[in-house]
Amino acid sequence: MTARLIDLEVLAGVLSAAAWLAAAGCAAARRRRPAAVLAVVAVLALLARIGLVVALGRAGWWFVQDKLTVTLPLAAVTAVAAGLVALTARRWTAPALAVAGYAAAAGPVLALFAGYPAGWGTGLVTAGTVALAGVVTWQAAGHRPRRAPFVWLLALAPIVLGAAVAVPPPASADDGGHGVQVSSVRGPDPEAAAASGIPVRRFTLTARTATVALASGQRIQAWTFDGRVPGPALEVTQGDLVVVTLRNADIAAGVTLHWHGYDVPVGEDGVAGMTQDAVRPGESFEYRFRADRAGTYWYHTHEASDRAVRLGLYGTLVVRPRAAADGVDLTLPLHTFGTALAVGDRDQPTTHAVAPGTPVRLRVINTDDGPHRLTLTGPFRLVAVDGTDLNGPGVLERVAVRLPAGARVDVAVTAGAAPVTLHVDDGRATVRLAPAADTPAPPVDTAAWPTLDQTRYGTPAPTPFDAHSRFDRRFTMVLDRGVALADGLPKYAFTVNGRAYPYVTTQTVREGDLVHLTVVNRSRDTHPMHLHGHHVLALRHNGRPFTGSPLWMDTFDVQPGEVWEVGLRADNPGVWMNHCHNLKHAAKGMAVHLAYAGYQAASHHAHGA
Ligand code: C2O
Ligand code: CU
Repeated sequence: MTARLIDLEVLAGVLSAAAWLAAAGCAAARRRRPAAVLAVVAVLALLARIGLVVALGRAGWWFVQDKLTVTLPLAAVTAVAAGLVALTARRWTAPALAVAGYAAAAGPVLALFAGYPAGWGTGLVTAGTVALAGVVTWQAAGHRPRRAPFVWLLALAPIVLGAAVAVPPPASADDGGHGVQVSSVRGPDPEAAAASGIPVRRFTLTARTATVALASGQRIQAWTFDGRVPGPALEVTQGDLVVVTLRNADIAAGVTLHWHGYDVPVGEDGVAGMTQDAVRPGESFEYRFRADRAGTYWYHTHEASDRAVRLGLYGTLVVRPRAAADGVDLTLPLHTFGTALAVGDRDQPTTHAVAPGTPVRLRVINTDDGPHRLTLTGPFRLVAVDGTDLNGPGVLERVAVRLPAGARVDVAVTAGAAPVTLHVDDGRATVRLAPAADTPAPPVDTAAWPTLDQTRYGTPAPTPFDAHSRFDRRFTMVLDRGVALADGLPKYAFTVNGRAYPYVTTQTVREGDLVHLTVVNRSRDTHPMHLHGHHVLALRHNGRPFTGSPLWMDTFDVQPGEVWEVGLRADNPGVWMNHCHNLKHAAKGMAVHLAYAGYQAASHHAHGA
């Protein structure tokens, strides 16, 4: 709804601008009638915009701030002025109508290229640009003012002044030059752990380029761990100390391991340029962390990750509880290679032979940049989200589960005499559970099934805090597209609060703080937001509380027009990435640091997500 209002308001702005300019053209050609009609259309479009902005404002101030403070006043003032000119100084009607058109156009232009927050600088530059365009039109229409330089100055001055205000010296994402180096905050020492009886599980992952054949025979030029995509499945037991040696054979870009969703000590977090340097070809790095939390996770490189994860530098991490459940337990990482959607390394429908009556847990992991839609052709329960079990998950049928980029869901089904099929994106990929590989399964069309509303699924349970708690810190992240400085150059970036990484103001917390995050999506793309090192508790969605099972997430999808409120306890000191897990968006600016006071990132220029 909100997303549609955003689009309509832009559209109304375009229509209004087009009508004013067409009216100006008619007036210049001395065709009064059509000019008057077009002007009326322009005014109606302006009124429609005002109505839309009022409706949009109910979704939140962030959605309308630029319109209320800059573009609507400008459009209204110039419209009134054009009307007055038309009535009193007829020979200047055409340029006046044109100025109203420029002012109307400022709405959509600002909405698409700047947006929230629109401050004084933006306002001045916008007004100045409209004035400048007006002066040019006025002179083109035949007026040669004696004081031309003065008139030009009048239009140029606000632009220069506004630009000076709008482009403050970039606040760098680096946090002072002192404090504990995050690279020194490491996991437990394996020898000491072994001596005290903690099971130590060792793995070695070697990053290298390889030509890999998928199940269909399709060959891909991949970046791999151990020559495979996905990399080796890491499976450990809760309580283990996990020790992983990463070697880089020939990935020239460098490589790291980030434990997505696992709240490891910051020095093990694998963010190149921040918690460690990227591991270059011939080098290695040892990661170690206690597997203190059971669930479904994944790992991936965090250097040039937009490209590198797409090419295959990822794998799964499953931590099983000590008392293992019986039944079948399948880990199903989804990944797109070119046009093929693969489950693990299978880009063709697969069947698992499961005896009727067997409980099955499907751990579905989205390693792509966009969401996937999961459907099951039999009753199921959604038992875990992002590695955390849900409370009282009820049985679901004929309903789809949306799986955001980077996120995981665990789904429980009981195998029957008839096959049960998991469809991804209504059949782009399928995984079948059947008594035998050749058990026939009737095709099922799942495309029309509704999507599960996770804000009300499961039953409530006590949480350490809730939406009404007293929060020590509150941060708002308004996600949008816009022109912003990124890596020293202005780009059409994916922005947070109007800025692009690394120039987004750092979110600074103290250890122990209860932190409230409001995430607003003003853009047309969905943004799966991922905070490293912490799980957030979902509090409110579009202002309404979550009323089902507590939802602890590390990746939550903020869809266009949505507002998410989440909370977290700052209990894992360090400097952490907080970014969109559409890695293309992260690479183009949609990332920020969450830093604990007294901690400092290892080097000052993180390469971004
Ligand atoms: Cu899975 Cu910073 O990412
Ligand atoms: Cu995004």
